[in-house]
Amino acid sequence: MNVPPHVANRRSVFPQFFTDRAVSRATIDTLLEAANLAPSHRKTEPWRYRVYTGKGKQTLLREMQTTYENLNGTETWTEKLANKFGKKLEQSPVVLVIFLSRDPAASVPEWEEVAAVGASVTNLWNSLADFNLGGYWSSPGFLCGDYGAYPGTPANHRCLGMFYLGYHEAPELPRPRGGWAEKVTYVG
Ligand SMILES: Cc1cc2nc3c(=O)[nH]c(=O)nc-3n(C[C@H](O)[C@H](O)[C@H](O)COP(=O)(O)O)c2cc1C
Repeated sequence: MNVPPHVANRRSVFPQFFTDRAVSRATIDTLLEAANLAPSHRKTEPWRYRVYTGKGKQTLLREMQTTYENLNGTETWTEKLANKFGKKLEQSPVVLVIFLSRDPAASVPEWEEVAAVGASVTNLWNSLADFNLGGYWSSPGFLCGDYGAYPGTPANHRCLGMFYLGYHEAPELPRPRGGWAEKVTYVG
């Protein structure tokens, strides 16, 4: 039996392979609707996304700098970093910042909500190939480093990284994995 295609086709596609082609608002909304169908214990639905396109990406670069400086002190956001992340943002038609919105009632342990956000991002990631889109989850240390304090978000939000996405011309590359059977124990 074969692995279902939307799972088999999921892979990381990096911004240097994205084309300039714009991603429509309707497509982005559909991806986020897929993300919203993830499971969560007690239905806390802890996933939150900020969507940056066009000029919004300049806002994102400023937010990244603020986050970096909050963590490392104001002297250390170098031109090298600005260029590195500026280029990735420029290459990417759409960038999402991913958040965990911790249930104020703490009705479930936090790890369950982190897992639910992972399931949500995976829903989105698994959907990309159906739209001929590619992308990847990026977790820069400074963005997630002090477990996700992010400018302009409520105190119960934790940044869990970013997701770059766009149409692409990436080559097919092997995605080697250790054997699944080595990670599985059948009992019974
Ligand atoms: C939570 C999470 C964080 C990740 N962060 C990064 C990252 O910061 N940089 C990166 O190059 N890839 C990152 N990745 C992507 C993995 O490197 C990638 O999924 C892995 O190499 C397998 O490749 P594939 O997605 O093509 O199957 C992340 C993936 C996950 C699930």
